[in-house]
Amino acid sequence: MKERTLAILKPDCVNRKLVGKVLDCILEAEFKILGMKMVKMDAKMAGEFYKVHSQRPFYRDLVEFMSSGSCIPMVLEKENAIEDFRRLIGATDPAEAEPGTIRQKFAENKQNNIVHGSDSPETAITEIAFFFSESELIPNM
Ligand code: RTP
Ligand code: MG
Repeated sequence: MKERTLAILKPDCVNRKLVGKVLDCILEAEFKILGMKMVKMDAKMAGEFYKVHSQRPFYRDLVEFMSSGSCIPMVLEKENAIEDFRRLIGATDPAEAEPGTIRQKFAENKQNNIVHGSDSPETAITEIAFFFSESELIPNM
């Protein structure tokens, strides 16, 4: 069954001009892009997006990082999209990511790790709605 997931190209991806390379990886892996936009989050918005981590020691730095520049949220569609996208991006820490994954190829460290991917069907639904209305999602790529 087709499934949707939310991906975000994080500020390090945009700042390091890696958007094209990461998009190539995503399209070559047969994900369809239903929606995509450029967003500059403020600290409040970034903090809300990652509120599940609000008690973690890395939360403040994460909020600062995610609001430090533009990012590119997108809705991806594919069979088994959530799990397949997590496999495509690799482990949170690029030092632990499988060879050939996006984070292994491009990420600098555990925080500046290029891309976000939803981790369950429930979070995919709320994360997609965080950035997109249904009318913005068009299967055309
Ligand atoms: P994401 O939510 O962005 O897809 O990443 P993830 O599931 O692989 O990792 P998660 O545990 O949800 O952490 C969210 C993001 O917080 C930053 N982080 N920094 N310095 C650290 O120890 C640390 N741990 C996590 C990363 O940017 C991570 O992707
Ligand atoms: Mg996560």
